[in-house]
Amino acid sequence: MSHPIWSAVDRYLNDLFVPPDDALDAALAASAAAGLPDIQVSPPQGKLLHLLARIHGARNILELGTLGGYSTIWLARALPPGGRLLSLEYEPLHAEVARANIARAGLAEVVEVRVGACLDTLPQIAAEGRGPFDLIFIDADKENYPAYLAWAIELSRIGSLIIADNVVRQGAVIDAADARPNVIGARNFNALLANDPRLVATVLQTVGGKGHDGLAFGLVVSTRQEKKRVGE
Ligand code: SAH
Ligand code: DHB
Ligand code: MG
Repeated sequence: MSHPIWSAVDRYLNDLFVPPDDALDAALAASAAAGLPDIQVSPPQGKLLHLLARIHGARNILELGTLGGYSTIWLARALPPGGRLLSLEYEPLHAEVARANIARAGLAEVVEVRVGACLDTLPQIAAEGRGPFDLIFIDADKENYPAYLAWAIELSRIGSLIIADNVVRQGAVIDAADARPNVIGARNFNALLANDPRLVATVLQTVGGKGHDGLAFGLVVSTRQEKKRVGE
């Protein structure tokens, strides 16, 4: 479901802004060889995540949905010395492939991949006092995005940045008749993101080689449920 021009422009941007990179290229090759689905963020999107983490000065990053560690590597490379990234993944095979990819990128000491369903591992992480996280990237199963937003806020401080992938889903989010659990999850997530008084947020539509989708951004501006205005 990708218009040819979207893919062609993605390749053009990729060639301009994402030069060949041994660790990232090897991560994609190893993920494909292991049979992982080809659903990681695009190279320009990975670079956007990297830029946002750097702009934000993120030192403690949480990722939901590791897959083969492609977005993980982009984010972890943005960390300053002493920074940490914790990535949560349900599938043991994905985590194993990701750990090898992350090690090849020289990031084994910086990144921890934890296996389990996020709804099981997030409470553990909270109990361990691993938060607050400066940046949280939500990219696991879309059905649970509403719950993941609640956990992301719980594990945030004022100033934390929450980013979520796949919140437009080829436009399916605006089709009220589309009751697929992943679409309902993304639609409810967007409504919660828009209306939570603790956040200032928006969604950017994206097109590219993976079709039409969207990335969500929320800045935590309060940790209490009080009224806010944009700009506060
Ligand atoms: N962030 C990755 C892509 C993640 S794809 C990148 O851009 O490179 C989504 C991942 O979430 C898959 O690996 C899938 O196995 C994982 N996942 C699905 N349900 C999950 C759950 N309940 N808890 C944790 N991970 C889950
Ligand atoms: C799917 C998951 C993703 O994170 C993504 O970026 C694209 C597709 C999926 O589960 O189909
Ligand atoms: Mg995604």
